[in-house]
Amino acid sequence: MKPWPYPLWIAHRGAGKLAPENTLAAFRLGAQHGYRMFECDVKLSADDVPFLLHDPVLERTTNGRGIAGSLSWQQLTALDAGSWHSSAFAGERLPSLADVARFCLGSECLLNIEIKPTPGTEERTGKIVANEAAKLWADAATPPLLTSFIPQALQAAREAQAQLPRGLLLDALWTGWLEVAQKLECVAIVCDQILWDANTVAQVKNAGLHCLAYTVNEETAAQALLTLGVDGIITDRVDLFAPSSAAAKPRM
Ligand code: G3P
Ligand code: CA
Repeated sequence: MKPWPYPLWIAHRGAGKLAPENTLAAFRLGAQHGYRMFECDVKLSADDVPFLLHDPVLERTTNGRGIAGSLSWQQLTALDAGSWHSSAFAGERLPSLADVARFCLGSECLLNIEIKPTPGTEERTGKIVANEAAKLWADAATPPLLTSFIPQALQAAREAQAQLPRGLLLDALWTGWLEVAQKLECVAIVCDQILWDANTVAQVKNAGLHCLAYTVNEETAAQALLTLGVDGIITDRVDLFAPSSAAAKPRM
């Protein structure tokens, strides 16, 4: 197995819930807490610009309305993606993947890009996000890790940029999950934390893949996962877990 280039602790959507998710303010806050790797959700604007947003629609985390992927990048940049969280973040903008690459490369942080397509755009999103990531990280020592719940999106990413590492996201152990991950030449399985036990960890490690868990916000759960030997923990609690520690040690 190749050495794993990514740190154990990964900040979910930038800084979890302490700042508006998937914004540069969240990345800055996660970095201030010592995090050196971030997870984020990436989809396409109507004119094919990869940008950060979790939901298919705009209502929960912006002042916009409707399907995010039906607006152009110019329209999306006019939205407020911070006021929904708190007044301190009013006016925060939706970042493009290029904005986030600039932040990560400039601060020596690594990135896990979850390909989160607007329904119906799975292949197109996988292909364009992979092409854009390959271009943005062309000179980087460690490429971003591309993950998705959707095998078709990962397959399109693989066809576009086979050299970029891929991980299959799982919220359930559906029939054939490991075979699909192997066929996609994934380097990791990223599971809902409750799916990891000694058996699933052994299955994945024996297949030569790495084990990551999301979204781990409790100390006892983190400790159990570390005991199982997982390779990565995605957390909202950048204020609780000190990322420099190999143990699930809460900050004092
Ligand atoms: O990538 C792990 C995790 O972010 C997947 O779930 O819904 O938070 O995108 P979700
Ligand atoms: Ca995600």
